[in-house]
Amino acid sequence: MSDTSAAKGKVVVNRAMSLDGFIAGPGDAMDWGGGRRLADFVAPEDIAEIAAATGAMLIGRRTWEVGERMAAEEPSNVDYPFSGPMFLLTHRPLDPPAPEVTILSGDIGEAVTTALNAAGGKDLEILGADVASQCLQRGLVDEILVYLVPMLLGDGIRFSPSGLGTIELEPLSSRRSGDATILRFLVYR
Ligand SMILES: NC(=O)c1ccc[n+]([C@@H]2O[C@H](COP(=O)([O-])OP(=O)(O)OC[C@H]3O[C@@H](n4cnc5c(N)ncnc54)[C@H](OP(=O)(O)O)[C@@H]3O)[C@@H](O)[C@H]2O)c1
Repeated sequence: MSDTSAAKGKVVVNRAMSLDGFIAGPGDAMDWGGGRRLADFVAPEDIAEIAAATGAMLIGRRTWEVGERMAAEEPSNVDYPFSGPMFLLTHRPLDPPAPEVTILSGDIGEAVTTALNAAGGKDLEILGADVASQCLQRGLVDEILVYLVPMLLGDGIRFSPSGLGTIELEPLSSRRSGDATILRFLVYR
């Protein structure tokens, strides 16, 4: 039987987003203009604090593939200091396999429970627009954290795919961090 008394972290959809609502540009580009990465906009201590509060990540296959491509193109550019358990949602095996990630498939609720249980009482970060949308639709998300990047991208991947519907949020905080603004919202379930 699982220990329901253990402290649980929050389920957080954590996103860098342009002012016009895109989380990546055309072709999944995440350089935020002129080759700048998120770490060039946000104060390093804020990124470190948010990463330290994160105990595990649940990642969509497309996000994983974009991350792999970015790492291959620019291996020195690691802008998020996280080293905990990672769970990858996919219907297909990885080729080559990646021993540092646990593959999950199927019910999104079970995937979130598995990943949150591995987070050691810290937060679970949800990465990927499709995966986040599934989680929001099922009422599995506690908080949305947005790094608002001062940019209009004009086109690309939206925060959520169309059809998600209306979800009410409560503002928790909003503050400047470097050239970005960090917004936090509570998600009403
Ligand atoms: N700005 C930011 O902070 C930020 C953060 C993260 C991602 N992004 C961007 O967001 C984009 C990726 O988001 P996305 O919405 O296109 O894709 P995604 O959510 O990363 O991945 C979707 C894929 O994950 C797999 N999947 C999803 N749910 C599943 C389930 N329940 N069971 C098994 N497999 C499942 C499926 O892949 P298969 O069926 O092919 O296996 C699905 O096509 C990229 O452009 C990335 O750069 C931006």
